Amino acid sequence: MNKPKVFAHRGDSSNAPENTMPAFERAVRSGADGIETDAHLTADGHIVLIHDENTLRTTGFSGEVGQMAFSDLRKLDAGAWLDDGFAGARIPELWELLELLRPTNMAVNIELKNSYRAYSGLEQAVLHEVARHGMAGRVHYSSFNHRSLALVSALGPGTETALLYDAVLHDVGAYCRMVGATAIHPYWRTVDRQVMDDCKAAGIRVRPWTVDDPTVAKALAALGVDALITNCPTELLATLG
Ligand code: G3P
Ligand code: MG
Repeated sequence: MNKPKVFAHRGDSSNAPENTMPAFERAVRSGADGIETDAHLTADGHIVLIHDENTLRTTGFSGEVGQMAFSDLRKLDAGAWLDDGFAGARIPELWELLELLRPTNMAVNIELKNSYRAYSGLEQAVLHEVARHGMAGRVHYSSFNHRSLALVSALGPGTETALLYDAVLHDVGAYCRMVGATAIHPYWRTVDRQVMDDCKAAGIRVRPWTVDDPTVAKALAALGVDALITNCPTELLATLG
């Protein structure tokens, strides 16, 4: 059986609060091949890792990330909502994750969370931070905002970009060529033999999300996907053997 790589979605988010250092540290310990995370820009230009545009769900305080100063955002507790044992976990900056992963051989999937908010300068800032850490070779960028991915490709020729989507696309290979993308990150239910054939013919890598069910993981592995993005890296690594 094809053995897909395993990416920990928002870190090991089934065992620790998503997009926090405890979740990223657990993902490293799980043996996952890579980590997926979500990047936003604060009002004063810090790249922070959090899923939602608003901080309410994961901190209990309602604030728009793009309108907050980093110093205010950093006061929020991003761990206690899941379990008191994680109280005190903060919303991390991108550099903290890069520092954690630099000594490993893990890959990083930075999702640019700019579908609902433009975050002017996010692409440049993220590329600069990754280059500053010397990690360009193992970072790939994804987004539901495909214009943003085209900009990433223009700013960093040769950079791997991955189209996020949850629809059934017509001729996905041709669409990737048009955008300049080298991979797709589709909602797993949209992946079938035709998608795989189109992508293999076009040299496009396929990494579906979010795959937590072992039966689904095995079926996608049999179809030949390159990686699985999962909340449960330990379980999926055991499933895939
Ligand atoms: O990158 C895969 C997945 O994270 C995309 O959706 O909403 O979980 O960021 P979301
Ligand atoms: Mg994401």
